Amino acid sequence: MALHRRIGILGTGAYAPAQILTNKDLEKMVDTSESWILERTGIQERRIIGPDEDIATMALAAGRQALANAGIEASRLSFIIVGTNSADYLFPAAAIRVQDALGVNRQLAAFDLQAGCTGFNYALYVAEHLTAPEGKYALVIGSDASSRFTNWTDRSTCILFGDGAGAVVVGPVPQGGIKTSFLASALSMKLLCQTEFNAENSPFLPPHQTTHRHFLTMDGPEIFKFAVNAVKESIRRIVEMSRIEREELDYVILHQANHRIIEAAARFAKLPLEKFYVNVHRYGNTSAASVPLALHEAVTEGKIKAGDKVLLVSFGAGVTWGAALVIWSY
Ligand code: COA
Repeated sequence: MALHRRIGILGTGAYAPAQILTNKDLEKMVDTSESWILERTGIQERRIIGPDEDIATMALAAGRQALANAGIEASRLSFIIVGTNSADYLFPAAAIRVQDALGVNRQLAAFDLQAGCTGFNYALYVAEHLTAPEGKYALVIGSDASSRFTNWTDRSTCILFGDGAGAVVVGPVPQGGIKTSFLASALSMKLLCQTEFNAENSPFLPPHQTTHRHFLTMDGPEIFKFAVNAVKESIRRIVEMSRIEREELDYVILHQANHRIIEAAARFAKLPLEKFYVNVHRYGNTSAASVPLALHEAVTEGKIKAGDKVLLVSFGAGVTWGAALVIWSY
């Protein structure tokens, strides 16, 4: 599809649930230690979604803030896309519930997109290609509550994840914008979460007892290797496609999964760690929310300025990975 307009990010927003789960709290739940978690992951605490919240309510809060920061009314949107892996309903999509809450039913198309922790980069790519031909606007959100399918007795996974949402408004920009982007995927069963729908009462399936199939399971060291390689490939591909040198990148928003992965990326990119936004210590891995949540905080803290070459990179279950180089517009 030919792109006709420059599409950029016009505003950002984020939402983090109030409840904080610290490493000390986890010591009381599983056989682990505050220092082990900090040394192996860089995570100190993470947020846990409240009983009255869900993917759509978090997405809405982040989305409203992004719209306000962009100065765009919801009525000007043509698309709402929510990247999520933990939507409360298979249908209706969380994006449609956001649409309804914004009072724009029937005025636009809203849908969810599932691509593991790369959900935001996938949603951004789709939004870019949907909006570019006619210069339309889209609200792109990452919202996840991995705590809802975490096995809280499994110390190898429950220490890693947290809940939250992040959002951006994309639309036409006079200069800058998304310069290059790509997505990729390959089948891997090393980080997975199975559904158990109808398994217990279906006359078409063999009877079986309640299982742990619906919990997230992961081969941590294998996923770690995949993540580092995916980040390296992402940086390599983006600099080649953009015809720039790695050193020319002004700022990197990398999926916040593990501080050691961020350090490995900085070494490979030949960039100082200061050019990588880090909030993994405060939120853990918030899955599809990770990149837009970090991006919003980086923008709010004034770390990104107009004209900066900002790289957004994520990787996740599937496996999936992808990146976008954005020339910051404001
Ligand atoms: N507390 C204490 N010890 C733990 C532990 C915990 N929470 N979790 C695992 N261990 C133990 C293991 O049982 C193992 O013990 P053993 O040597 O006696 O067998 C030891 O610590 C080392 O485990 P290992 O899995 O090799 O550690 P690691 O250095 O690879 O770190 C992860 C584990 C999960 C932190 C790391 O592999 C990782 O971050 N992987 C990527 C995960 C990720 O980002 N997933 C999402 C991608 S979107």
